Amino acid sequence: MKEVTANDIANFVKNGDRVAFGGFTPAGSPKVSASAIARRAEEEHAAGRPFKLHILTGASTGNTIDGVLAKADAIISRAPYQSDSNLRNLINEGKVQYCDMHISHYAQQIKQKIFGEIDLAIIEVADVSDSGEIVFTTAIGMASTFCRYAKKIIVELNEYHPKKVRGLHDIYETEPAPHTKPIPLVTVRDRIGTETVKVDPNKIIGIVRTNMPDQVKAFSKADKDTDRIGENIAKFLSNEIRNGRISPLLPIQSGVGNMANSVLKAMSNETSIPSYTMFSEVLQDSVIEAIKSENILFASGAALAVTQECLNEIYDNYDFFKTRLILRPQEISNHPEIALRLGIIAINTALEIDICGNVNSTHVFGSNVVNGIGGSADFTRNSLISIFSCKSTAKDGRISTIVPFCSHVDHSEHSVKVLATEWGVADLRGKNPRQRAQEIINNCVHPNYKDLLNQYLSMANSGHVPFSLANAFKMHEAFVSEGDMCKTVWAI
Ligand code: COA
Repeated sequence: MKEVTANDIANFVKNGDRVAFGGFTPAGSPKVSASAIARRAEEEHAAGRPFKLHILTGASTGNTIDGVLAKADAIISRAPYQSDSNLRNLINEGKVQYCDMHISHYAQQIKQKIFGEIDLAIIEVADVSDSGEIVFTTAIGMASTFCRYAKKIIVELNEYHPKKVRGLHDIYETEPAPHTKPIPLVTVRDRIGTETVKVDPNKIIGIVRTNMPDQVKAFSKADKDTDRIGENIAKFLSNEIRNGRISPLLPIQSGVGNMANSVLKAMSNETSIPSYTMFSEVLQDSVIEAIKSENILFASGAALAVTQECLNEIYDNYDFFKTRLILRPQEISNHPEIALRLGIIAINTALEIDICGNVNSTHVFGSNVVNGIGGSADFTRNSLISIFSCKSTAKDGRISTIVPFCSHVDHSEHSVKVLATEWGVADLRGKNPRQRAQEIINNCVHPNYKDLLNQYLSMANSGHVPFSLANAFKMHEAFVSEGDMCKTVWAI
């Protein structure tokens, strides 16, 4: 196959093209093509010519795609998830059209051409044969679907990854409805597809060689609050097992970031929680640590988003890890039907929670997006137990993350079963709206905000749901006008 340079790729792309990048988080993201495209965009802009693209990915990407393209102002639209600060600013300024959507819905919408034809897919691989057989690297995400539906493919052959990663992947794609068949995955360990994806070699217009690790950054260290939240969740799960409400081996799904790391650490330390499995989206360093200590027996995900040090350890001990890890396309890793059938326990992070049990994962004060909904609802709505955690306050205590009513709702009171903050756990199952509100205030709210929220509850005293139209957003208003939710004045 023809070897090309990153600059050749940039010249191949036209203004207005729809370009899809493989990878999921920085894991498996192409490393050099987007930078070359960004340089081309800057040159075109300097010459007074328009040059912007529609960008599709599996999820977030890291700086090598979203960061460089956003800085070059080269993005018209973006789906389905991002977490880059430059891109976030452009979205919130209305300069990039962002379609924030469930990760599990995305493959079907690509197949339905909701986003139009994909002009070019740029995919990172560990190996590719002349006959078009592709071995992915540390993620699958949407890569197999993009390969199938793109008009042309550019391959970044990343020689950092050894050829032995063949076998880490299990590629299974659903047919569009009404031809979708039951997905034959019965346990988290099952292999239901192929190790590689086969594409028409004539679609591959070039190969760029790279040798670069994924740019996964280590998360900042857990703090005492995230550790307390982790301990509270671990104790809750331990009680559930002791009371016989859940089987000890139900698969865990856990979100990304410090909070997820603290939860997994606390679960490993909780001796009454036996070894378990994971059916999740992003597998972080903390999952690998728990596999090493045999707290986690097996982990299934869409991406191995681990630091370089951790990845090297996996490759150095590959015989051990290859029997304990599997990567799947995101339509399978996040598939709601599988999540429901496996009885997973979903643990995700919230930005804001209300006393009714609604959760906001995405928009600060109802308007500015942080990252997006990602896979959180794929798992939450379909889990056996859905748990959301967050610290009880933000901005040095001036914001209570628990409010009368969320300024944006991603997960409704009907999907959210358990809430956890550093103060404790609110078990919302089997309770009516007023009981739920009292449980949340008693167990999760910061002491500085308990009186305020109890006052709200006593004012919202008619109807099925405790809701006061005049006061639902008064705490938000107090932060905007006074800089502190503690200064809330209720409209009596
Ligand atoms: N109101 C206003 N601002 C708030 C807030 C609230 N209730 N809660 C937090 N913030 C601010 C923080 O102060 C911080 O601001 P800063 O960037 O100026 O420091 C920012 O919002 C982010 O908060 P932080 O606590 O650092 O968030 P996080 O890194 O723990 O991420 C989510 C939390 C919800 C944004 C993140 O988990 C997410 O994107 N979730 C959705 C996707 C998902 O769940 N994926 C996993 C599924 S597999």
